Amino acid sequence: MEPIQFKRHRRLRKSANLRKMVRETHLHAEDFIYPLFIVEGVNTRNEVSSMPGVEQISLDLLKDEIDELVSLGIQSVILFGVPDEKDDCGTGAYDDEGIVQKATRVIKEHAPEILVVADTCLCEYTDHGHCGLVEDGVILNDSSLELLVQTAVSQAKAGADIIAPSNMMDGFVAAIRKGLDDSGFQDVPIMSYAVKYSSAFYGPFRDAANSTPQFGDRKTYQMDPANRLEALREAESDMDEGADLLIVKPALSYLDIIRDVRNNFNVPVVAYNVSGEYSLIKAAAQNGWIDERATVLEMLTSIKRAGADIIITYFAKDAVKWLQEDK
Ligand code: PBG
Repeated sequence: MEPIQFKRHRRLRKSANLRKMVRETHLHAEDFIYPLFIVEGVNTRNEVSSMPGVEQISLDLLKDEIDELVSLGIQSVILFGVPDEKDDCGTGAYDDEGIVQKATRVIKEHAPEILVVADTCLCEYTDHGHCGLVEDGVILNDSSLELLVQTAVSQAKAGADIIAPSNMMDGFVAAIRKGLDDSGFQDVPIMSYAVKYSSAFYGPFRDAANSTPQFGDRKTYQMDPANRLEALREAESDMDEGADLLIVKPALSYLDIIRDVRNNFNVPVVAYNVSGEYSLIKAAAQNGWIDERATVLEMLTSIKRAGADIIITYFAKDAVKWLQEDK
C-alpha cells in the first residue's frame, strides 16, 4: 500500500523553544498604555467595584503609582479625570487647574520620560454625562469642537505628550490639530479615537469615571457595532484631518475592524481593550471559572495578531509581570 501524503505541522510544535522560535506575535511592556483615573482629595484609593484591581487615585498618590509602573517597565499612561464638580459645559475639562492638567504636571515633573496620553473628552466633566454640549436633548457638534480644542490645548500646555480625542464629534481631529498648531504645539501628536463604537462593554468604565449619560445614549455620535465600512470612513477622515495614530475601540469584539484599519492605513494602530472586556475576565477568574493569566495573555496576543501595535489595557501591570515570569 502506498503511504498517504500529508504535511507534518507538528514538527514545529515539538518543544517549547521551537514554538518560541517560530512564534509570530509577541507582547512587550512598551506595547501597553495603562489607564489611570484621577480623583480630587488626598490619600484616596477607591477600588472601582465593577473593575476589581482598578482604583481611582488621588494626586498625592500618583508618584507612587508612577514609580510602580516604571519599575514594571510600563512607559505610558492615559489619564481620565474624575472631578468633584460638573456643569453643563464641562468646564473642568479645559481648566488649566483641572484634575487631568494637574495630574499631567505631577507625572511629567516626577518622571519626565513617562508618556502621558490625555483623553480629550467632556463626558467626565458634564453634569449630563454627554461628550459634547447639549441643547434640547441634542448633542451639538460644531459648538462642542471649540471646547474640545480648548481642552486639548490646555492638556498640551500641562505637558501631555499625546492628545487622544475620544468624543466622536465630526471634525474633532481637524479642529484640535489647528488649535494645537496655533498654540505652538505642532509636535504634539493626535491619537484619534477614530473608530469608537457605541458599546455595552463601556459599562464598568462609566462607574470608574462617573460618566454615565444622564439621559439617552451615545448612539448619535458613537458608531453602530454592526458597521464595518463606516469604520473605514471614520478612519479615513481622521487621517485626512491629521491623525498620527488611530484607535479602534473596543478591541475584543472588533478584531476584524482592527485588521481592516491595519490593512488600510500606514500609521500605528491602537486597540482599546475596554472596561467590560476586563471585568468579564476578572469576574470569571474570581469565580475560579477561568485561568486568568492564560486568558489575558491569549486575549492580548490576539489583539496584536489582529493588527494592533499598541494596546490600552487595565491588564497592563499583570501582563508585564506575567511576561517577566515567563522569561
Ligand atoms: C469617553 C470614554 C469612554 C471610554 C474611554 N473614553 C466611555 C464612553 O464612551 O462612554 C471607555 C473605556 C472603557 O470602557 O474602558 N471619554
